[in-house]
This record gives sequence, structure tokens and C-alpha cells, in this order.
Amino acid sequence: MNRIVSLDEFVIRTEKEKPHSSGSFSRLLRDIGIAAKIVNREVNKAGLVNILGVEGSTNSTGDDVQKLDVFANEKFIETLSYSGEVCGIGSEENQTFIEVPADKGKPAQYVVVMDPLDGSSNIDVNVSVGTIFGIYRRKSPADGPCQLEDFLQKGTELVAAGYVLYGTSTLMVYSTGNGVNGFTLDPSIGEFCLSHKNIQMPVAGNYYSVNQGYYLKFDLEMRRYIDHCSDLNYRLRYIGSMVSDIHRIMFQGGIFLYPNTRKYPKGKLRLLYECYPMAYLIEQAGGTALTCKLERVMDMEITELHQTSSVAMGSRDMVKDMKEFVEKYGAVIQ
Ligand code: AHG
Ligand code: MN
Ligand code: MN
Repeated sequence: MNRIVSLDEFVIRTEKEKPHSSGSFSRLLRDIGIAAKIVNREVNKAGLVNILGVEGSTNSTGDDVQKLDVFANEKFIETLSYSGEVCGIGSEENQTFIEVPADKGKPAQYVVVMDPLDGSSNIDVNVSVGTIFGIYRRKSPADGPCQLEDFLQKGTELVAAGYVLYGTSTLMVYSTGNGVNGFTLDPSIGEFCLSHKNIQMPVAGNYYSVNQGYYLKFDLEMRRYIDHCSDLNYRLRYIGSMVSDIHRIMFQGGIFLYPNTRKYPKGKLRLLYECYPMAYLIEQAGGTALTCKLERVMDMEITELHQTSSVAMGSRDMVKDMKEFVEKYGAVIQ
């Protein structure tokens, strides 16, 4: 029987392999794991305690209801703020970044960006949700507060990224740039345990994931590509939680699309909190992540915290096909 390897053990072991490691990165990942467990507990009991529902209303026991995405945001911020390893946090739920004061004067070298609860439209109906995170090394001087420049870094500057899927089981999937590994939460021991080593996504697949309800609002080349997927009898799966939809194609192969629409001419998904971290993981797993204008997502310039982008990411050969459709039918930005 294989010995169980916990997330903490795995992180410490892989960090030790790097020269001059201080252990701070291990502590940071461990703290992300702790926050994920707290959120997981709340996701699982949401139906019981009536945490679901509209923020500001009152639950059956008379407590104020706090929406799960607000709860998740608070828990991640709280845990990361006390980790001592983070000088700032950028969250999809906060207008601007959060400065974390140095712990006992010890400067912290990382900033974390996150979508604390992805797939919020699924919360009230018991469908999978997730958390997305990215970790950057700070750019600003270590002896001062974090600055906007620490957050406005391209995907190529990420030192780690990952997601947590609160689904039929709870999984944490992350990469530090040396492959992707997945850890499943074993509720009996309360630990994330290594369950998916060195994940490589299929080079092709037959799933496509897109909100087809917006079909008429997509550019011609995207409509043509979607027609092609339908012609080939690819299976359409769209959960409406990027984490869940990407998780499926990570393991079964496929393509995830969130094209620009008339309502969102630049795309809807957030570059910093959603697109970069997921693109990082997809590339690390052997896939391709482009915008619908065929730029590499990881190379996109970022000038605003809440900047959005279109995305077309997934199995290498499927993204290649999509690219051909854009080249044939689209007005590509050179
Ligand atoms: P969030 O819940 O963090 O706002 O993200 C939702 C995102 C993404 O997860 C999903 O793929 C997409 O929005 C769904 O959007 P549509 O409902 O427009 O398809
Ligand atoms: Mn999201
Ligand atoms: Mn969110």
C-alpha cells in the first residue's frame, strides 16, 4: 500500500529541494490549505445552517446571513494576514489591494491574488464552487508597504498558482512551475493528501465548455468554431464555475471558452484572479491558454487590478483548431 503524503509534507519536501529555501513559501501554501479547509467546512454545512442566501438577511436562528463568497473572502484574508509571509492580498471581491503589515518587523516577500469563491451563481443550488489563487514575489522594497506594482505582474511572473474545487470531493490542485499536482481532502484525517501526481492533460478531447446562451453575441470566428465543435458531436458541458469546468478538461481533455461578447467587449473573466492562474496551470499540465484574439494569456499586459480578458484554453490540439478558425474568419490583432 502506498504511504499517504500530505500537502504539508509534499510542499516542505519540494521546497527543500531548492537551494536557499527559507521555508516561507511552504508556510504560505500550508496557510492557503488551512483557509481552504475552513471554507470547505462552511460550503459543506451551508444548507444546514442557512448560510446560503442574500447577504444582509437573517437565518432561521436569527443570525445575520453572510454570503458564502463574503465568508470565503474574509477567511482567506484573515488566514493570509496572519501567515507572516504575505505583504499584500489582491481579491476579486475587493476594489483595491489589501496591505498586510509586517509581522514583528519581519518583511514578507509574497503577494497573493485570489478569487475566493468562483462560481457564485452555483452556491444557492448545491453545485460545485472553487477558489483560485496566484502567488507573486513582491517587486517593491521589502522594508516598505506593498505597492500596486506588486500586483500588476503578468502571468509569466507567477511563482505558484492553484485552485481548490469544493465538489463531490474537495481537491487542491497547484503548481510551482514544475508540473501540476492534486491533493484530495481526506475528511477523516482533515488533510489534503497527494492523489494526482504530475497531472498532464490529454492533448485532445471531446468536451467544449462555453456559455452557448451568448452564441449570438460572440464574434463570427467563435461562432464558427462552436459550430465546428457541435458538428463533431463534442459534448457541451458548462457548469458556470471556471474551476469546475477547467477541472473537467484537465482530466478528460477539452476546451474552455469565455469569448468577448457585446456586453463584455474585452471578455468577462478577471485576468489577475482567474485567467493568469488557470492559464499557468493549463500550460504546466501541457495545454495551451490563449485569448480569443490569439494572444498567450500569460503574456497579456496588465494595467488594472480588475482587468478582464477573453479566454480559450485547454487541450493543445483543440486550442490549435480554435486558432485556425480565428485565423480564417476573424480580424486578428497582430
Ligand atoms: P465568480 O463567481 O467568481 O464571479 O466567477 C464566475 C465566472 C466563472 O467562474 C464562470 O466561468 C463565469 O463567470 C460564468 O459566467 P456566465 O454566467 O456569464 O456564463
Ligand atoms: Mn470567478
Ligand atoms: Mn468569485
